[in-house]
Amino acid sequence: MYRTHTCGELRKSHIGQEIRLAGWVQTIRKFGSITFVDLRDRYGITQLLFGEELNKELTDNPLGREFVLQVNGIVAERSNKNANLPTGDIEVKVMNFTILNKSITPPFTIQDDTDGGDDLRMKFRYLDLRRQAVKKNMELRYAVNRAARNYLHEHDFMDIETPFLIKSTPEGARDFVVPSRMNAGQFYALPQSPQTFKQLLMVSGYDRYYQVVKCFRDEDLRADRQPEFTQIDCEMSFVEQEDILTMFEGLIRYVFREVKGIDYSDQIERMTWEDAMWNYGNDKPDIRFGMKLANLKSAFRKDGKIKATGDLINEAGFGVFDKAETVVAIAVPGAAEYTRKQLDELTDWVKRPQIGMQGLVSIKCNADGSFKSSVDKFYTEERLKKIAEAVGASAGDLILILAGAEERTRKGMSELRLELGERHGFRKKDQFRLLWVLDFPLFEYSEEGNRWVARHHPFTAPKPDHIRMMIENDPVIKNPAQYLQHPYSDIKANAYDLVLNGNELGGGSIRIFQRDLQEKMFTALGMSREEAMHKFGFLLGAFEYGAPPHGGLAFGMDRLCAILGGSESIRDFIAFPKNNSGRDVMLDAPSTIDEQQLKELSIRLAGE
Ligand code: AMO
Repeated sequence: MYRTHTCGELRKSHIGQEIRLAGWVQTIRKFGSITFVDLRDRYGITQLLFGEELNKELTDNPLGREFVLQVNGIVAERSNKNANLPTGDIEVKVMNFTILNKSITPPFTIQDDTDGGDDLRMKFRYLDLRRQAVKKNMELRYAVNRAARNYLHEHDFMDIETPFLIKSTPEGARDFVVPSRMNAGQFYALPQSPQTFKQLLMVSGYDRYYQVVKCFRDEDLRADRQPEFTQIDCEMSFVEQEDILTMFEGLIRYVFREVKGIDYSDQIERMTWEDAMWNYGNDKPDIRFGMKLANLKSAFRKDGKIKATGDLINEAGFGVFDKAETVVAIAVPGAAEYTRKQLDELTDWVKRPQIGMQGLVSIKCNADGSFKSSVDKFYTEERLKKIAEAVGASAGDLILILAGAEERTRKGMSELRLELGERHGFRKKDQFRLLWVLDFPLFEYSEEGNRWVARHHPFTAPKPDHIRMMIENDPVIKNPAQYLQHPYSDIKANAYDLVLNGNELGGGSIRIFQRDLQEKMFTALGMSREEAMHKFGFLLGAFEYGAPPHGGLAFGMDRLCAILGGSESIRDFIAFPKNNSGRDVMLDAPSTIDEQQLKELSIRLAGE
């Protein structure tokens, strides 16, 4: 037996017992003729005491950091207790020891505040994973996984595996493709999600399916995106949107309770996509704080809800506002004291290419009710007051205004709001606010092909009373500049996203389950009949054999873990993640393959 106990297990109640431990050497401290060693394993750290009698042996066989050590010893009360350690009341008086394996000096220290940079830690990820901080993240991930599975199992969901080698049908992101030796010149693709399979399972009658499953997408990476990531993927038959929202609110509440001990009993807020864009400039708003967008001028709404409050800002001789398609503002609470330097810095911030704005207008709402603004010479005190009212600013606040083209300006203001929310501490890590965003547009305009693309995916059903708009109107966009006037831009989907603290945690939809509507959808996306049959013939075929009404959703497992763990980056919650260029720096993948392998696959590289 290698060990009788773990390094996290021994307490006062074990004092006097003879035990055996095995683990890694964390630290070695010599005090004259005695030596203390902290021994670490997955469960904790135990202090070992090597007395005088073992000194010669230690001199002959010196220990080093990360050596694998086995000791026999007696549990004893510690004179110098460590209240920060669960095992801090005891130590083990070593009787004899065996070095099970040596270690060369690790490239960084295995402790919470490590001296290893990101690249180094990833290269030696197997060492990084030994660190307490990373281990905690892995434990949290396992707890989320287990809780989700428990909940779904209790609700009759069945875990069914779906294939990884499938057909390439890129829609949304690019596919990762896999050559086939046995089928020269042909390729599989790795699934971007099990979407069509789970729908086929509904046709097969497995009315509640789930899978904790890897998905693969060849897209540009960010802190919350990896080329391979994990979804908690679910689908249900004989459901309407409301059934799905209720079921998965239950799941997320269960996970919160099991993993974080949080009783999320608040009603989960709901917001239409249109309201989210209007009030936050963002389809996944962080509602932990206010600072909503004030729309002083906008091309966004066609429903007449915005009657140009534009007259507040127009025709004051300030060309920037007069000419702009859109002018939006926010009030930053208590920021009227910003210095010139701080405002300049913010202006530079919005001018960065990622944001791409021309400039930033500010109005300080002074405590005495007066205003100080960068556009004083155009606006009278009276008008500034009206603007402040429209923005909902009070004394002590700072109003920030962006102007420009609709989409960019709205997005820019959303980014600025989040940045200032962060700087002012409004985005509290220990506060969780869930939100359903509903009624997404079914289509999105793609400038590239002057056509419609599916905003969610092509299997998403339109709202029942919008189906007619789809059937009765020709999808062709005659006037690209006015695509917003095309009836297709008004068609709303039966789709929903669950947003947590400004992150898209999951999304799904009610699906199309009738062959003719699905065909109409493919046509709307610019697919010919032949192309649709070639790509999705299997699904269209299945819809002819009694497909039930169905719908579902998928949670981003990595994102859920990162947010619950209070981190920005999902990489911290993946055992072996890729870096921002999609590389595994430990394996050094992707890599070239040899000539023979290429030949077997009938592949010749370009340029050869
Ligand atoms: P969707 O594409 O919205 O839906 O993905 C569902 C959730 O997966 C997470 N996610 C990612 N996480 C990490 N890295 C990525 N590259 C990445 N891409 C997506 C997000 C997202 O909300 N089949 C549909 C679901 C459905 O309709 O049922 C789908 O895949 O948290």
